[in-house]
Amino acid sequence: MIQIAPSILSADFANLGPSVAKVCQAGADLIHVDVMDGHFVQNLTFGPMIVKAIKPYSTVPLDVHLMMTNPQDLLNDFIEAGADQITLHAEVEYDIISLLKKIKEHGIKAGLSLRPRTPASIIENYLPYLDLVLVMTVEPGFGGQEFLITQLPKIAQLRNMIDPAKTLIQVDGGINDKSAPLCIENGATTLIAGSYIFGSTDWAQAIRSLRGDNG
Ligand code: DX5
Ligand code: ZN
Repeated sequence: MIQIAPSILSADFANLGPSVAKVCQAGADLIHVDVMDGHFVQNLTFGPMIVKAIKPYSTVPLDVHLMMTNPQDLLNDFIEAGADQITLHAEVEYDIISLLKKIKEHGIKAGLSLRPRTPASIIENYLPYLDLVLVMTVEPGFGGQEFLITQLPKIAQLRNMIDPAKTLIQVDGGINDKSAPLCIENGATTLIAGSYIFGSTDWAQAIRSLRGDNG
């Protein structure tokens, strides 16, 4: 079963709680929260206070994607705020295994995200700790960019490296009704989509079309 995770990066920030509730009703399986620190990526978005504020509006798990140079500084705050899944980036320099362990000690799912230039092989050392791998299919930092078709072989490679019963494969960036089937064919299990869902007039239909259900 394919999971659909709307990214609130493209939601109406002045109306965030009700937008989260509405997209859950429209069929979201997860709510994806893009945390950007203005350093790991240029953009600045949400902190733990926003995660805490939207938590009561969500009927599905909160999937928090930390695009941060120093995720260790705020990890406890994101855990306390109600994150249900936390994904770190593989490219920054800190003790990733200790952070993954810490996330899992709290009963939270742990993930590792790969920028487009980062090879699939990087996950080998971390596999025992990973509930999910997130393949960036755009350069992280902004919504509304074009899907990088060059990432499809990486998705297929990851599918061959992991146990699908244990570790999910997320794709994030440029996901729409054209790129979604390509990702699924290559092994993606979770599709993260911001502008495609929140930019459509019928969110439920947009979510169904990503699942490949146009009925
Ligand atoms: C980009 C973020 C994505 C973003 C995707 O750095 O990680 O989650 O919201 O946006 P779309 O679906 O518009 O490409
Ligand atoms: Zn994301």
